[in-house]
Amino acid sequence: MSTALAALRACWHPVAYGADVGAAPRATTLLGEPLALWRDSRGAAHAFRDVCVHRGTALSLGGVEGDEIVRAYHGWRYRSDGARTAIPQLADPTRVPARARAVVDPVQERYGVVWVALASPRWPIPDVPEPEDAAWRTVRTGPFAWACDASRQVETFTDFGHFAFVRAGLLGDPGTRSWRRTT
Ligand code: FES
Repeated sequence: MSTALAALRACWHPVAYGADVGAAPRATTLLGEPLALWRDSRGAAHAFRDVCVHRGTALSLGGVEGDEIVRAYHGWRYRSDGARTAIPQLADPTRVPARARAVVDPVQERYGVVWVALASPRWPIPDVPEPEDAAWRTVRTGPFAWACDASRQVETFTDFGHFAFVRAGLLGDPGTRSWRRTT
């Protein structure tokens, strides 16, 4: 694993709008890692690596009952901390090996967005006051699938100087120079 990728795994990343994460597990991918996002009966969001330790099928194909994710294939159940709580095929379904558990990633919800880190996060979620300020309006967009580096995606949303040229008539007019910096 490259140094850059290792550093990125220890950062918080937005992976879904909170409103899109419900009781049904939702599959997504972060830095090449398949994830299953789900919400328990208390409304808390969770992120598991999207692989069942039994036969390796996707956890996101299962369902949620109360505070447990229930596998679609053989009905194994996992608690929100990743521990398995039941294997229906055993004579005593509750006698499950402790070492077999789902991989659980850190999750936070902020600004109406679910954030996940793939390793112990080294920095907090960035402070962005506008989404929590009633004077501002949040407009949902995306997600977009772009064949480019993530840094290029961020740049295109923050480099206002190109708007009037690339989106002429939609996000500006090159002739008015309204896109120019004033300071
Ligand atoms: S593959 Fe998950 S319960 Fe069997």
